[in-house]
Amino acid sequence: MASRIRVGIAGTGSYVPERVVPNKWFEEFLDTDDEWIVQRTGIRERRFAADDESTSDLCLHAAEEAMRNAGITADELDMVIVGTITPDYQLPACAVLVQDRLGAKNAGAFDVVAACSGFLTALHTGEAFIAAGRARRVLVIGAETLSRFLNFEDRGSAIIFGDGAGAAVLMPHGECGQGEILRTTLGADGSGYEFIHMPGGGVTNPATVESVEAKMHKIQLKGRETFRFAVSTMSRLVKEYIADYDEDELGLIVPHQVNRRIIDAALDRLEMTDEKVMVNIQSFGNTSAASVPVALHQAVTEERCVPGKLVVLVAFGAGLTWGATLIRW
Ligand code: COA
Repeated sequence: MASRIRVGIAGTGSYVPERVVPNKWFEEFLDTDDEWIVQRTGIRERRFAADDESTSDLCLHAAEEAMRNAGITADELDMVIVGTITPDYQLPACAVLVQDRLGAKNAGAFDVVAACSGFLTALHTGEAFIAAGRARRVLVIGAETLSRFLNFEDRGSAIIFGDGAGAAVLMPHGECGQGEILRTTLGADGSGYEFIHMPGGGVTNPATVESVEAKMHKIQLKGRETFRFAVSTMSRLVKEYIADYDEDELGLIVPHQVNRRIIDAALDRLEMTDEKVMVNIQSFGNTSAASVPVALHQAVTEERCVPGKLVVLVAFGAGLTWGATLIRW
């Protein structure tokens, strides 16, 4: 068997829509307030896409920045993989729209559906293609326009989510010399499929006037159950991933930006402070598949990903699904 090709992250990029939605906006029509939202989630504001903006638009901006930073052009891409639960259309995949608009004429393209673990699922898949010698340059994106799927009558879910996109270009580590992916894991437990759910519009509940009136195509969230799962999954994965390394080798943890209290509770279990943790939930809310790559790109831009140190990406969400990636930056 041919030896595995080591894979690196050659460049990252991100994009969030211009429209800033502060917590106060929800006070106009929901029984909630800024203080509750800040205390219970850490979120101060999020971004919502404009009416004429869709997920492929967000992807395009993030992808162009990632490719610029990686120093490659679109025709060099072999594969475009988008992690999203909010594609532009039910059919075709969001990834083919991105492939076409980028001019990535030599690339295959497909979406992966893993909600908040979507970017890490795309990353895991892209890494495997390159490691096996089946592709050399893969663009992976996590992107969501969740604002279109929020039930603005439900204070327990409407205040949490935001829109955005983050991207990374993967290539053989020997060619980019940075961000070597040492390990990736994906996991799932479909018995929890109803915890975070959009029940309408699929085969079980096709779109009808009644299903739309009942808001079955909007996101439904069992917050408390998700909270417990998120804390235990984040702490378990991080613990497992850093177990074999000296404490000072760890540079940064980039967790899914789900809820500030979830991140803090997981850090308590790990007996860690937040010094080595990337947190930007206050500005963007929970952007699902976009959350990890948007935070990663911000960390790269702020030079918090230190060459030679370890970076742990960790995500968890609807499905239930989870994933982690260990990188030697
Ligand atoms: N404003 C004011 N009160 C609110 C509220 C809001 N926006 N949302 C919920 N409440 C109320 C509830 O109705 C409840 O009232 P009650 O005690 O009278 O019944 C009370 O606050 C506590 O609700 P609870 O659901 O226990 O709050 P919580 O501390 O668990 O916070 C979430 C709720 C949703 C913020 C939190 O559970 C969470 O972030 N979960 C993870 C969500 C997520 O992002 N999952 C997706 C991917 S992993």
